[in-house]
Amino acid sequence: MKKLKLVLIGAVVVASMGYALQYGTTTASTVEPDRQEQNQQPEGLDYSKFLHNSRNHARLPCLLCHRRESNSPRPLLPGRSQHTPCAGCHAQQFSNSDSPICIICHTDVKSGALKSFPRLKSFSMKFEHARHVNMEGVSCATCHRPSRGGVALSIPAGFNAHETCYRCHTPRAQSQGRDISSCRTCHQLGGYRRTPEFAPAFRVGFNHARHQKVTCNECHQVRAGMPQRRQVTSPAPLNHHARPGTESCMSCHDGKRAFGGDDFTVCKRCHTGTRWQF
Ligand code: HEC
Ligand code: HEC
Ligand code: HEC
Ligand code: HEC
Ligand code: HEC
Ligand code: HEC
Ligand code: HEC
Ligand code: HEC
Ligand code: HEC
Repeated sequence: MKKLKLVLIGAVVVASMGYALQYGTTTASTVEPDRQEQNQQPEGLDYSKFLHNSRNHARLPCLLCHRRESNSPRPLLPGRSQHTPCAGCHAQQFSNSDSPICIICHTDVKSGALKSFPRLKSFSMKFEHARHVNMEGVSCATCHRPSRGGVALSIPAGFNAHETCYRCHTPRAQSQGRDISSCRTCHQLGGYRRTPEFAPAFRVGFNHARHQKVTCNECHQVRAGMPQRRQVTSPAPLNHHARPGTESCMSCHDGKRAFGGDDFTVCKRCHTGTRWQF
């Protein structure tokens, strides 16, 4: 039984990637199950959920299941060709249409109707501004477009983001001999919170559309090696309470470079309405 399974695993992986040796040997050498796994016999496993981080799947290359045949921004669920590669390793489950494994992908097991591809659950997304902004033909506008009537600028999000990224990260794309097309290039196991598009400054009347004469670089500096959400600086949404030295509305709205300061004739350009509210 165990031998048969190893042969199957080998066949599946050879067919797809040639990772057989690597995977085969690790499987063969991990005969000693760890403590936790002893408490969780295979019969106790939950087959209704696919786990990327289970030790049986974590070492498999993304491309084994997520092949990018086209440059479509929407990934497809694996299993299109006679349920490979899953069925190769899970012959027992796939011989039984009552197995909970079927509902990982199907809404209706009889007809084969599929669920839609899930959103990010177990993966984060990584992107480095500093690496991209100096590339030929790239400007901030490649990825950021006016949104909410020009007040804000969009941030690539959801599957639509792939459209932006896949302009260069095409199937099988390489850079200096390294693959930059695999899901792994941008997604790694871990938690993630999307960078919000609605920044605090918009609540105090800041509007990108009103600042088109000022270049992006006058307000935003790209910093290398910073974590998500802290890669690009922005002026703080402060005017009257900004400390000298902080980059804020006051940096320009000081009555010299742009209207502001203590000039009571101009308060209403920022404070619209009848009260001192934005
Ligand atoms: C053994 C097959 C297999 C491998 C290998 C695999 N995936 Fe998946 N992946 C799936 C299946 C099946 C789903 C959809 C089922 C689900 O999770 O609900 C999925 C869903 C996803 C999702 C969306 C849901 C989530 O969990 O965040 C992302 C992102 C993803 N895979 C990325 C990756 C990356 C990156 C790799 C390589 C590091 C990878 N996958 C390797 C089978 C695989
Ligand atoms: C290279 C072999 C291999 C492939 C390919 C593979 N699995 Fe697994 N998977 C395993 C092994 C080994 C286990 C441990 C339990 C067992 O032997 O059934 C496992 C366990 C599971 C479990 C139980 C929960 C867990 O992760 O421990 C589920 C559910 C599962 N696999 C679903 C899938 C699905 C769906 C696919 C295809 C998208 C898939 N597997 C592809 C080897 C594989
Ligand atoms: C990893 C995802 C996945 C799992 C798990 C899975 N399927 Fe599928 N299944 C697919 C995909 C993808 C198709 C192809 C759909 C298409 O081409 O439109 C498919 C097709 C089908 C079809 C349509 C007929 C055919 O063969 O083309 C049936 C019926 C089916 N699956 C039954 C099952 C059963 C029964 C199980 C559990 C033993 C199962 N599936 C588990 C992904 C999966
Ligand atoms: C190749 C696409 C791409 C380019 C080019 C790009 N950005 Fe971004 N930007 C993103 C993505 C994706 C995010 C969201 C993820 C994140 O926060 O790192 C983002 C987030 C931001 C944020 C939110 C705060 C932060 O630090 O993340 C600001 C501000 C920003 N970008 C400004 C700029 C400016 C200014 C330029 C031009 C100098 C630029 N971006 C060029 C893709 C891009
Ligand atoms: C070049 C970088 C890149 C590659 C390669 C890539 N992605 Fe993404 N992906 C992104 C970005 C950027 C987002 C948007 C993140 C956000 O919404 O904050 C994203 C979002 C997602 C989402 C969330 C969709 C939603 O509606 O929330 C899933 C799921 C996903 N990707 C799966 C995949 C899978 C599977 C692959 C491999 C076939 C892949 N990605 C390859 C950059 C990439
Ligand atoms: C104008 C083309 C272009 C666009 C658009 C683009 N990239 Fe890239 N990206 C590259 C190139 C070329 C490299 C490799 C060179 C380098 O790392 O400096 C790269 C490298 C990367 C890397 C590091 C890869 C590694 O293995 O080190 C990540 C992560 C990445 N890009 C994510 C993204 C995301 C996310 C998007 C969309 C929001 C995106 N890229 C859009 C061209 C692009
Ligand atoms: C006059 C200064 C100024 C200029 C010019 C400017 N921005 Fe901004 N930007 C801001 C401020 C202020 C915020 C919000 C910061 C906060 O509240 O944390 C912001 C936020 C952003 C964000 C975050 C997403 C959002 O809309 O909330 C992105 C992306 C961005 N700017 C991109 C750009 C790009 C691209 C350009 C050039 C086309 C640009 N900005 C020009 C001041 C400016
Ligand atoms: C890099 C310099 C700079 C920064 C920083 C800056 N602004 Fe401006 N702002 C300008 C310039 C220049 C104008 C157009 C000047 C004019 O029309 O006299 C402008 C115009 C405006 C207007 C349009 C008023 C009208 O009557 O059309 C408002 C409102 C405004 N800024 C608010 C803000 C707020 C709030 C902040 C901080 C979040 C801010 N600005 C940060 C330079 C800046
Ligand atoms: C360049 C835009 C701008 C101009 C011009 C401006 N303000 Fe403000 N104001 C702000 C911003 C941004 C805040 C948000 C709070 C902060 O700065 O600490 C604010 C907050 C306030 C508040 C709320 C209480 C407080 O202090 O936080 C009052 C009152 C106020 N402003 C009065 C005025 C008066 C009076 C004028 C004319 C002399 C004026 N403002 C001109 C941008 C402006």
